[in-house]
Amino acid sequence: MANLSLLLSIVLQVLGRVACLEQVNDRQCDCYLTNDTSKNYFTTHDFFDFRALAQYAKVPSPITDPYDSSDADETSNYFLDENWTNVWGIQRWNNSDGVDSGDVPVLLVNSPNNIYIEKNEDEDPSSETFLTMRTLRYRHYQSAAEFESISKAYHFLSVRMYARTIGAPGAVTAMFTYRNDGGARELTSVQESDLEIRTMDPPDKVQYTNQPSYNLEGYDIPQSTQNATTPKQADWTQWSVHRMDWSPKNTTWYIDGRQVASIAFQVPRDPSQVIFNAWSDGGEWSGNMTVGDAAYLQIQWIEIVYNSTGNEKTTDKRNDDMARAPLNAKRDEGCQNVCSIDDTPTTGTPVLLQGAASRISDHILGLGVAYVWIPLLLATFLI
Ligand SMILES: *[C@@H]1O[C@H](CO)[C@@H](O)[C@H](O)[C@H]1NC(C)=O
Ligand SMILES: *[C@@H]1O[C@H](CO)[C@@H](O)[C@H](O)[C@H]1NC(C)=O
Ligand SMILES: *[C@@H]1O[C@H](CO)[C@@H](O)[C@H](O)[C@H]1NC(C)=O
Ligand SMILES: *[C@@H]1O[C@H](CO)[C@@H](O)[C@H](O)[C@H]1NC(C)=O
Ligand SMILES: *[C@@H]1O[C@H](CO)[C@@H](O)[C@H](O)[C@H]1NC(C)=O
Ligand SMILES: *[C@@H]1O[C@H](CO)[C@@H](O)[C@H](O)[C@H]1NC(C)=O
Ligand SMILES: *[C@@H]1O[C@H](CO)[C@@H](O)[C@H](O)[C@H]1NC(C)=O
Repeated sequence: MANLSLLLSIVLQVLGRVACLEQVNDRQCDCYLTNDTSKNYFTTHDFFDFRALAQYAKVPSPITDPYDSSDADETSNYFLDENWTNVWGIQRWNNSDGVDSGDVPVLLVNSPNNIYIEKNEDEDPSSETFLTMRTLRYRHYQSAAEFESISKAYHFLSVRMYARTIGAPGAVTAMFTYRNDGGARELTSVQESDLEIRTMDPPDKVQYTNQPSYNLEGYDIPQSTQNATTPKQADWTQWSVHRMDWSPKNTTWYIDGRQVASIAFQVPRDPSQVIFNAWSDGGEWSGNMTVGDAAYLQIQWIEIVYNSTGNEKTTDKRNDDMARAPLNAKRDEGCQNVCSIDDTPTTGTPVLLQGAASRISDHILGLGVAYVWIPLLLATFLI
């Protein structure tokens, strides 16, 4: 009898798990667990899919004049839709202050014209389209690309992009969290976890950092940064999943699911923004791009699970909406329906991991999963 119930419970667990890994939409998830070793929950999930946007695909001609470049329009309606504008802000700022003061050698101007949806012309393409962030060098300046989260209230997250970097040396492409409580020069007020690809570096080297990476005296802080080696076949010129998990104890980075770096030193503590960019300023870090050259960060999708704190001044409309939504009430009661974005067969669509007791019994009563019953009966007879 003991054996029977043991076997039954094993069969139930195994089949239950299979049956449970049902693809659901985010409204059915109270929280998300990731598959690193952390047991921390995240409350929110966002997915941006650039893989099938042929209606928006168009490579815009570069703009030579830096002022026109800064003033340029968004390159397609995709970037004017609320789905995008509620979450991301395309940047137009430049570093003329730094150039004027002699801190940086080359004028950098961010332009909406450098962020666009492009048709995937790869041989045997893995998507129809992707998002491109372009940075190109003119004689007198570097045209660059950056989008920042509208919300500054991300407070721990797991962010992933399926991306590659291609093009000329002398650029940096990056995915990072950012917070700066002081002025631009107040080093110690910066909190930041970075993934940075320097296009001058070998394609199997990626730099991961919890900023600042040097101190006020200008010395390097070696514990703050790691020069990591990519898995074979996943150098930064190849499409791969770049993932950064920012937790209270450490920031840990993965490529295609393999951990490549982890830094427990100087982990950002406070709510932050999420930023993507492709840039150069002719400095030591980025290097100088040759006039007429360009480099590109190309992204098929971005996925984030995160917590956000409300005690942060933010212009994020979605956060306000969320604060009012019933989801929040549920959240306070704890997490009933736990979902995963890792164990899903469909990137971007979560699966239910647990807490679906009512759902399973619904299925069983409705014979929705007869395949649970048949092996169960078999198991019973076998004993
Ligand atoms: C990072 O910290 C989390 C807890 O926040 C822990 O579960 C995980 O093991 C740590 N990762 C590494 C690589 O130390
Ligand atoms: C995210 O928020 C939930 C609910 O407040 C909390 O249980 C969880 O520990 C938080 N996760 C992290 C990584 O701080
Ligand atoms: C750079 O930014 C400054 C300050 O916002 C602005 O006055 C200037 O016109 C900008 N320059 C370019 C080339 O966009
Ligand atoms: C905005 O997102 C919603 C929900 O994912 C989707 O149904 C809708 O088609 C999107 N709008 C555009 C213009 O892509
Ligand atoms: C990382 O190491 C490689 C050599 O293994 C070197 O070429 C590259 O410049 C280093 N990157 C940084 C940012 O130090
Ligand atoms: C975690 O999930 C990712 C997909 O998001 C996968 O590539 C990776 O192999 C998984 N890691 C483990 C340890 O299961
Ligand atoms: C890049 O070129 C500028 C001159 O245009 C020069 O001032 C600067 O030092 C160069 N940067 C590097 C890293 O060599």
